[in-house]
Amino acid sequence: MKILIFGHGYLGQRCHGAWKDSVLTDVHVTSEESALAEIQRHQPDVVFSAVGVKGKPNVDWCDAHPYETVQGNVLVPLLLAQACAKAGVYLLHLGSGCIFYGDSPHPDHAWRENDFGNPLPVYSRSKWAADLVLSTMPNVGIARLRMPIDHIPSSGNLIDKVSSFSKVIDVENSVTIIDDLMSVCHQLLERQLPGLFHATNPGIMKHRDLIELYRDLVNPSHTCEWISNNDLVAQGIVSKTRSNNILTSDRLIEAGIVMRPVSEALRDTMEKYARARRGEMIFCEFCS
Ligand SMILES: NC(=O)c1ccc[n+]([C@@H]2O[C@H](COP(=O)([O-])OP(=O)(O)OC[C@H]3O[C@@H](n4cnc5c(N)ncnc54)[C@H](OP(=O)(O)O)[C@@H]3O)[C@@H](O)[C@H]2O)c1
Repeated sequence: MKILIFGHGYLGQRCHGAWKDSVLTDVHVTSEESALAEIQRHQPDVVFSAVGVKGKPNVDWCDAHPYETVQGNVLVPLLLAQACAKAGVYLLHLGSGCIFYGDSPHPDHAWRENDFGNPLPVYSRSKWAADLVLSTMPNVGIARLRMPIDHIPSSGNLIDKVSSFSKVIDVENSVTIIDDLMSVCHQLLERQLPGLFHATNPGIMKHRDLIELYRDLVNPSHTCEWISNNDLVAQGIVSKTRSNNILTSDRLIEAGIVMRPVSEALRDTMEKYARARRGEMIFCEFCS
């Protein structure tokens, strides 16, 4: 299998480093023709899109830049899907679990793949808009992730983010361990499965679980103040409330694609992260 990756940011580069059967392009998609030309140049079996606009320094940027956000998160994915359909290749797009706010209407309060999103901020709305239309297309799969947790330190890694905050909320969430995400996405690409998939590790993680492991394994002297979710906006730390939710991965289970339970995967990732922070070599089955 030859995978062509569009989007040379955090996740595009991370997947390219892990997948020996991939090529990464830094071409910016401006039209269906520009995407098709790149696909025809590389002749891939499948296309993986890690393209997106998530705002800098954070998603609040997107609220002030709706046109750029919708362009990157809705229009460009559509152009890629059209180009892939013309070329007769499967597209796997990265969606986000942040399209769901709060509890679902189901008795267990968890969100299923085909539930309707309820987002307010521009970033989440744009991701939901893309999911709504891309999920109608037979050649497109969508893998929704949430709050990436990685053993490689980086600004996109939830471990680095949460450990850098002096004030932290302690809410329950579904999260995505990056090693597991890359394995899931590779299997979806191999099998060219269409439709929506929740690529979150089974189980629930509280920010407190992450910080406690961080203290145990990385920095015993780490401290932070615990605040409520409402305090985040009330204290002006962010301008809009963040999405907190629990997702189930029913469609991955149906497909027989397994992610490790979050507690096991989080500990494993934090141990590797601690070794990376000490400058040791890390064995990673996915890394080249
Ligand atoms: N990281 C997360 O926390 C997270 C969580 C859930 C979902 N996701 C989704 O995962 C995807 C990748 O996220 P990421 O964290 O890797 O973001 P990232 O680091 O910001 O990378 C996104 C990449 O997309 C590129 N891009 C933007 N417009 C493009 C276009 N028209 N054609 C080609 N490339 C374009 C950007 O290039 P330039 O910088 O050169 O513009 C950037 O390299 C996004 O769709 C995001 O919504 C991410």
